[in-house]
Amino acid sequence: MPPLNKVLEHFQPSAIQEVFSLAGQLKAEGRDIIDLSVGEPDFCTPMHIKQAGIEAIQSDVTKYTSCEGTEALKQAISAKLKRDNDLNYGVDNIVVDCGVKPLLFHTLLALLDSGDEVILPTPCWTSYPGMLHLLRAKPVFVRCPQENGFKLSPADLEAAITENTRLVMLNSPSNPTGAAYNAAEMKGLTDVLLRYPNVWVLADDIYEHIVFDGFIHANPVQVEPRLYDRTIVLNGVSKAYSMTGWRIGYAAGPDRLIRALVKVLSQATGCASAMGQAAAIAALNGPQEFLQDWVRIYQERRDYLVSRLNGVSGLTCHAPEGAFYLYPSCRGIIGKKLASGQVLESSIDFAKYLLRACGVAVIPGSAFEFDPHIRISYASSMEALEQACDRIETACNDLE
Ligand SMILES: Cc1ncc(COP(=O)(O)O)c(C=O)c1O
Repeated sequence: MPPLNKVLEHFQPSAIQEVFSLAGQLKAEGRDIIDLSVGEPDFCTPMHIKQAGIEAIQSDVTKYTSCEGTEALKQAISAKLKRDNDLNYGVDNIVVDCGVKPLLFHTLLALLDSGDEVILPTPCWTSYPGMLHLLRAKPVFVRCPQENGFKLSPADLEAAITENTRLVMLNSPSNPTGAAYNAAEMKGLTDVLLRYPNVWVLADDIYEHIVFDGFIHANPVQVEPRLYDRTIVLNGVSKAYSMTGWRIGYAAGPDRLIRALVKVLSQATGCASAMGQAAAIAALNGPQEFLQDWVRIYQERRDYLVSRLNGVSGLTCHAPEGAFYLYPSCRGIIGKKLASGQVLESSIDFAKYLLRACGVAVIPGSAFEFDPHIRISYASSMEALEQACDRIETACNDLE
């Protein structure tokens, strides 16, 4: 048999996969599963955005576009960055790809050589270390515990930087914790980064619009314009506009990096879907008011869940600034016993127990490089969340 890429031999089966397979198996057996593992909004794409996609198809906008994205979409992105983030990026400093996920991979490909160190504050989105492994780069995990609001401190950032550091990845608000940096906290980090001119900065702002209690999102270049030449801003329409299936993400950055990224895109992507791009223009240029209604709904759910989960013995839950995830600690559950005598030894054991015992699917913290926690998504109806909390509470009370 011919060999495969050797990197894949080191990939462990992901903790998420184990829980997904068990959830699938239980669903197939007819069990009623409340799925709190999903990473996409439960709202429909708004009608005016869908209409723009339909009109694009009907008027034959169905062919390749320019590899960097259509001029009209890049103009809409440029205007959005000015309007929402006070960032000045012209169309030549913007590229479009088939979602932030592939764009992130393509950006890392443009930035990194094998062996380069990349600082990842953890808990972090599972794809960050996954992509770095695929590219033979080296993730350097910096722990950001719940007591610090799951945020990176300037001192911890500085301590992690070495002469091999090529990139620092920031994701605010974060998947999986919802933690977000305000302008002063971001300035603390950018003050450190200013002192290291050989380090790139990547800001994954995909959850920027989902923030609570009047929180104002802060981007590194916005708070420290001197980082413009070595920062790449990633964003997309998936989460804010509930457009996960349309597959449109974009990046804004300095000339040198954008030119390198276009080289990668021209070989690896071709272009993002033409009708998806047309719909994204409607999302960015169209009415934004509905976002406030969605955010209010998310916030009600967050508040409800945080208070219920903090009432469950064995769990402690921090109230984050944004996104639609909670990342409660389950340290108080570890070591407890089921009636069968089985001891719960990890967040994976706990997630599997919740699935089997009460039909609630969550993701174990090992998937996000920070344990013992579970990730709960509240992109689900309030009724589902109420039921899930009742079930989790009973299941935890049943442990000895
Ligand atoms: C932090 C983060 N970045 C990027 C993405 C990917 O978004 P897209 O749908 O644009 O690929 C996700 C999706 O879960 C995410 O959580």
